[in-house]
Amino acid sequence: MSTQFTRVPHPSPLPADRRAEILADPGFGRFFTDHMVTIRWSVEKGWHDATVGPYGPLSFDPASMVLHYGQEIFEGLKAYKQPDGSIACFRPEANAARFRGSAARLAMAELPDDLFLDAITELLTADREWAPPAGGEESLYLRPFMIATEVGLGVRPASEYLFVLIASPAGPYFAGGVKPVDVWLATDYTRSSLGGTGTAKCGGNYAASLLPQAQGTAHGCAQVAYLDAEERKWIEEMGSNNLFFVYGSDDQTEVVTPTLSGSILAGITRDSLLLLAKEIGCQVTERRVSGQEWLENGANGTLTEVFGCGTAAVITPIGKVKHHGGETSIGGNEPGPVTLRLRKLLTDIQRGDAPDTHSWMRTVVPA
Ligand code: PLP
Ligand code: COI
Repeated sequence: MSTQFTRVPHPSPLPADRRAEILADPGFGRFFTDHMVTIRWSVEKGWHDATVGPYGPLSFDPASMVLHYGQEIFEGLKAYKQPDGSIACFRPEANAARFRGSAARLAMAELPDDLFLDAITELLTADREWAPPAGGEESLYLRPFMIATEVGLGVRPASEYLFVLIASPAGPYFAGGVKPVDVWLATDYTRSSLGGTGTAKCGGNYAASLLPQAQGTAHGCAQVAYLDAEERKWIEEMGSNNLFFVYGSDDQTEVVTPTLSGSILAGITRDSLLLLAKEIGCQVTERRVSGQEWLENGANGTLTEVFGCGTAAVITPIGKVKHHGGETSIGGNEPGPVTLRLRKLLTDIQRGDAPDTHSWMRTVVPA
């Protein structure tokens, strides 16, 4: 049975001319649409009070558990205006499933997938004018999240949660579009360890990444690549995307990505690219990749391309990898052909410019 949402239209949505200005150059995560979805959960009532209403401040008690022990999870997915005028999301069922997995790891209530998907439909229906026009680089980034709202300072799973869905028009995550970014190989800090929360998308993982991120920024890097916590040897992923390594060229191309080790976030883009790369004839390998391999094979030229991938980052080529001992440049600091080909394959499907042979796109607002 589908949940009934209470619909409260915004009394004064942003004027169309101001919205058009924002959509022309949205940046990333700077502007938000007119509405948001909220759904509450409590032990007594389960999921209740589903509402799509005006975007605005949340108000909660200073002793709300999220503020003290960090019970917070989130997702990131994108909606794209299609050539026929409909709005479709890329693999939202996968985000719904990962959101449940994150909730389970953080001992939070699990939002049923149909409610996650209904929330998206409700918000995009209310804010359909906010989807950037078809055919461009822009999309509408959706940020579902959930926080513990029970009041109390006891350290235990909360008995009340608030799920919220907001949306933000998005251009390229990294300034400069598809130009290669430099990456800082962290050796002082790790992102997560086996048995930790690395496979969950919780705010705490990102809080812990901010200091190494600042270190990377100080070295002119846009992202941080992490090694495993046990041996400090194996490449895991970056602060907000997964990593791919490309060997060879043409019909001898091998695409390698680190195995999901138990401390890596299972990226939906990563999963999609493994399939697309296979379909274009690449040999696709999930295995351990050491930091040393990246540096050595980058320097000797056998490693031809490295790129990061994720919802926000899409596919971002990596130019240099920097570390305390120096730096190595890959692919002459230009985006490589495999990187660009996979990027086009993926974004063409997302924008409705190529057949969706895997049924990855879900129409949420009809034309
Ligand atoms: N790894 C981390 C740490 C991330 O934050 C993200 C972004 O969501 C990814 C990987 C890529 O995941 P996805 O492709 O599902 O967006
Ligand atoms: C995403 O790609 O959706 C992410 O979650 C990255 C983000 C932390 C900006």
